[in-house]
Amino acid sequence: MELLQAILQRRSCRAFRDDPVDPATVEELLRRAGRAPSALNLQPWEITVVMGRELERLRRRLLQARSERAVSCSPGSRRPLPEVFQQRRRASFAPLAELLSQQEMDVNAFVEEGSCRFYGAPVALILGMDGAFSSQRLLCLGIFLGYLLLAAEDLGLATCPVGLVTSYADEIKEFLNIPEEKEVVLGVAVGFRDETSPLDRFRTPREPLDRFVRWYV
Ligand SMILES: Cc1cc2nc3c(=O)[nH]c(=O)nc-3n(C[C@H](O)[C@H](O)[C@H](O)COP(=O)(O)O)c2cc1C
Repeated sequence: MELLQAILQRRSCRAFRDDPVDPATVEELLRRAGRAPSALNLQPWEITVVMGRELERLRRRLLQARSERAVSCSPGSRRPLPEVFQQRRRASFAPLAELLSQQEMDVNAFVEEGSCRFYGAPVALILGMDGAFSSQRLLCLGIFLGYLLLAAEDLGLATCPVGLVTSYADEIKEFLNIPEEKEVVLGVAVGFRDETSPLDRFRTPREPLDRFVRWYV
């Protein structure tokens, strides 16, 4: 697949088919993502792959945690965000909210519950790194994620990054025996897109260049 095609067609998937993904394909995906650059080539990413019955158990655990300690999808800001970001968020999720309202479902509840289920995907990846690293190294995990999402397209796999589950990092660490000194940075749902689901037909918009680029020439 052309790189440009992968970039243009990638979008987060929130409706997966049940079909399993061959572990060899997951391995290939991670090998390709591992070609990502990192500062000093430290390759700080650490990945836990969860599939099959273990993933069913993890889903149940996260849903249980959510029922006891609900968290909302938040942008994770240090201070109140400028209104422009709230507008972008609303614009991005408006089509999904509209679709869900026809089924009398609330978009926030859908995303929060769906995230804890990894949207029914057959594979969940937990991306982490050693807690000894400074937050600077999150950049490297971000690049790894970018490579992963595009490499998945090439392998015919759909993905959804799932940051919400990090609110339950303690549960994830305990369940997956991730040592205390490691940080859980992100979850990623991986699988095959359910093309028949109406919940998966929308694309999020992007700002025009002049909103985020300044030139000095
Ligand atoms: C770091 C990160 C965390 C995210 N966390 C979630 C999440 O918890 N739940 C969810 O449904 N989508 C999550 N997303 C997906 C974003 O909502 C999505 O990327 C964004 O709306 C743009 O849409 P697109 O990916 O379809 O282009 C996350 C994306 C990123 C990059």
